[in-house]
Amino acid sequence: MTDAALETFEIAFKDVFGRAPEGTWAAPGRVNLIGEHTDYNDGYVMPFALPHRTRAAVARRDDGLLRVHSAEMDGGVVELRVADLAPGTASGWATYPAAVLWTLREAGHDIGGADIHYDSTVPVGGGLSSSAALQVVTALALTELAGLDLPRQELALLCQRSENVYVGAPVGVMDQTASACCTEGHALHLDVRGLGQRQVPFDLAAEGLELLVVDTRVKHAHADGAYGELRAGCEAAAAALGLPALRDIPYAGLDDALRALPDDRLRRLTRHVVTENRRVEEVIALLDAGRTREIGPVLTAGHVSLRDDFRISCPELDLVVDTALASGALGARMTGGGFGGSAIVLTDTAAAPALTATLNAALPAARIFATTPSRGAHRLS
Ligand code: GLA
Repeated sequence: MTDAALETFEIAFKDVFGRAPEGTWAAPGRVNLIGEHTDYNDGYVMPFALPHRTRAAVARRDDGLLRVHSAEMDGGVVELRVADLAPGTASGWATYPAAVLWTLREAGHDIGGADIHYDSTVPVGGGLSSSAALQVVTALALTELAGLDLPRQELALLCQRSENVYVGAPVGVMDQTASACCTEGHALHLDVRGLGQRQVPFDLAAEGLELLVVDTRVKHAHADGAYGELRAGCEAAAAALGLPALRDIPYAGLDDALRALPDDRLRRLTRHVVTENRRVEEVIALLDAGRTREIGPVLTAGHVSLRDDFRISCPELDLVVDTALASGALGARMTGGGFGGSAIVLTDTAAAPALTATLNAALPAARIFATTPSRGAHRLS
């Protein structure tokens, strides 16, 4: 992003709120390379940050009001009283910044009102974590303006809590952690139990590779219950086995665990989670060995598992994956929560233009772009 673009954005803040912002921050969306529906099972995930980001220009207020405005959302300025914020009170997109402010205050941080102007290049509803970008940019801006230097993982946990408690969606911590903690040129290996992190170099260009994101534009909704049912199913499976989480089943113990489970649905959920944790380990080993193109089949195996065992794919995502593989892609899978959203496709760079055209012909409504691991949340001015 150029300085001129930043200046224009800060002028937009002035047009809305009649004064200059105190600063501007950015936080990215993410794709998940591998490790799907493992975060709330205490397992492994491996997302990376997109270059698409949400920006927030912010100035504090001392009259107890939170006023938010978005360049993309209709409805003008949304004004809320900080003292009145409570789970279940707000609605629409402003729920997310309200939830973050409420959660920060509930955690004991002395943060008051603010004027915030947002814009975003993260596709909304594409399963690319536009809401995590909105949460994280808000949390980072409000804490830094208050002179707080919270560790990034703590910031992500607070954002997750804001979504769990205030918004009411039982999501794991992957998306917020990706937005807060990812670094350019790396995928982030997060071990959700203990929250250990490692930045794993993920250099596509060095091997003549490209990663395409295919946003099917089929909408998904976590809060509608399906995500919660999957999570509850995984927790029930772990409980039936007397384990804290499905993470505690080693890959070598999978068959025994499956034999001990009472019904087919719990067996399917368990098989996905255990094999998916294994696939994360396989991808890490390949990336560490500089064998990036060999991750393709592992990604595809992840899709098959999400489609057949977890059952959260959809015809459009399957069409993208099948078309990509039939056209010579090295690997492809749905990414994110499922029920629509986006797929990722690993391809040789030379083959990417023809593949993109083929995918466009198969799914004309899709939005397709090549991407590289980008920077996590940061201050712009
Ligand atoms: C959504 C959630 C994440 C994670 C993924 C599935 O993106 O927000 O916490 O569970 O789905 O991997």
